[in-house]
Amino acid sequence: MIIEMKKINFQRKGRSILRNLSWNVKKGEHWAIVGLNGSGKTTLLNLVNGYLWPTSGTIAVFGHQYGKVMIQEVRQRIGWVSSSLQLRLPEELTTEKIIIGGKYGTIGYYDELSPSDEEDVLQLLQLFRCKDLFRRTYQTLSQGERQNVLIARALIAEPELLILDEPCTGLDLISREQVLAMIQQIALQRRGPTLIYVTHHIEEILPCFTHTLLLREGEVFQAGKTEELLTPQQLSAFFQVPIVVQPMGQRQWVALDKK
Ligand SMILES: Nc1ncnc2c1ncn2[C@@H]1O[C@H](COP(=O)(O)OP(=O)(O)O)[C@@H](O)[C@H]1O
Ligand SMILES: [Mg+2]
Repeated sequence: MIIEMKKINFQRKGRSILRNLSWNVKKGEHWAIVGLNGSGKTTLLNLVNGYLWPTSGTIAVFGHQYGKVMIQEVRQRIGWVSSSLQLRLPEELTTEKIIIGGKYGTIGYYDELSPSDEEDVLQLLQLFRCKDLFRRTYQTLSQGERQNVLIARALIAEPELLILDEPCTGLDLISREQVLAMIQQIALQRRGPTLIYVTHHIEEILPCFTHTLLLREGEVFQAGKTEELLTPQQLSAFFQVPIVVQPMGQRQWVALDKK
């Protein structure tokens, strides 16, 4: 079992942000988490990473129950990509230094890379067909390329669980597909990490996401096999408006049903 959450409640300032949430992620599964803004997605991820502590309920990650394990040891095995990191990166830094920072747990890296570190970065970029990003200055990259670099930064530490919190928010069409292609590629790796992908756009749910969690107002609306959840019936009930679903290129595209 990768993640095991039982009856989680999370309250802040007298408000209930997550309610009676139980969720299991098994090895071999990749999950998409879908919910409107404010539904509690980032809070849920912060609980998984041990940055927040539940008001009640239990969490185990990689079989280690929080409260009975050094959280740092678990956290080292989790990769995390979120937009807040982007803002903290010095614009003048080059890509290989940003990426190798992921191995040493630092935001940037200011020494010359050792030949073996350089080789590792290059191999990783090659694997994702992003070799042309090598040695580029961060400020010269497109938004999509920046996101690819942040994902590479998370991957270089060889995490067993990779959490992507809305990595495509604010990206244009081309950039978004660049990032999604990289994520699909990660899922194809034989010994790659378990993926958790957070979004509020159904069309970003790639075929690699075997399972989906629909989160609404801090509660699990449904959790299960993606193909069973991305139906007009389920999504209309979830969004509380009539929804039409159209498959295109192995992904589901949704719109409001105006009929
Ligand atoms: N530390 C906090 N203190 C009080 N309220 C919070 C805190 N963090 C998040 N919230 C509230 O909890 C709800 C869920 O937030 P969040 O998990 O960020 O949602 P999402 O990522 O789905 O947009 C929001 O209403 C937000 O305002
Ligand atoms: Mg969020």
